Amino acid sequence: MSRPMRFSFLIAAALAAVSCGERNGGGASSEAAAPLTIEEQGRRAFSACAICHSVKDPTEPGYASLVGPSLFGVVGAPSAHLSGYDYSRAMREANLVWDDATLDAFLQNPQQIVPRTRMAFAGEPNVERRQAIIAFLKTLN
Ligand code: HEC
Repeated sequence: MSRPMRFSFLIAAALAAVSCGERNGGGASSEAAAPLTIEEQGRRAFSACAICHSVKDPTEPGYASLVGPSLFGVVGAPSAHLSGYDYSRAMREANLVWDDATLDAFLQNPQQIVPRTRMAFAGEPNVERRQAIIAFLKTLN
């Protein structure tokens, strides 16, 4: 091999090593293999909600209430949808229906949509994340 050729071979090998390392970083390779559905993205984003919200059917045996109400069947339901949960007065009197638009507005800024709600969550600013979370909530019924 002539000198310049060997040099460019070394550069190519180094570049290949760098791009391999990138591809293996952060679990990106498995996402590339099977793109997540919007519901799966929402299930992941729901980890921000799961500390306070169960997604289980509260009428099933073994249901344990967390700080917030279960969100099972919440899409399309009226606000304060669970009869067994002790909602704030603000939520009991909010008189909303949890359709896509209302959920989106509430998840972006809970205090603006239901002033003095007890839900201690600042809001999800990213619209795609909110849409994914709502798609996931629709699977809970
Ligand atoms: C720190 C705890 C906490 C977090 C985090 C939280 N919530 Fe809540 N959420 C509550 C509480 C408490 C209530 C009841 C509020 C009230 O009575 O004013 C509530 C109420 C709700 C309601 C109304 C339910 C109904 O029956 O009317 C929805 C919908 C909701 N939360 C969705 C979410 C979603 C989606 C997330 C994540 C993006 C989230 N919440 C994050 C505590 C939380």
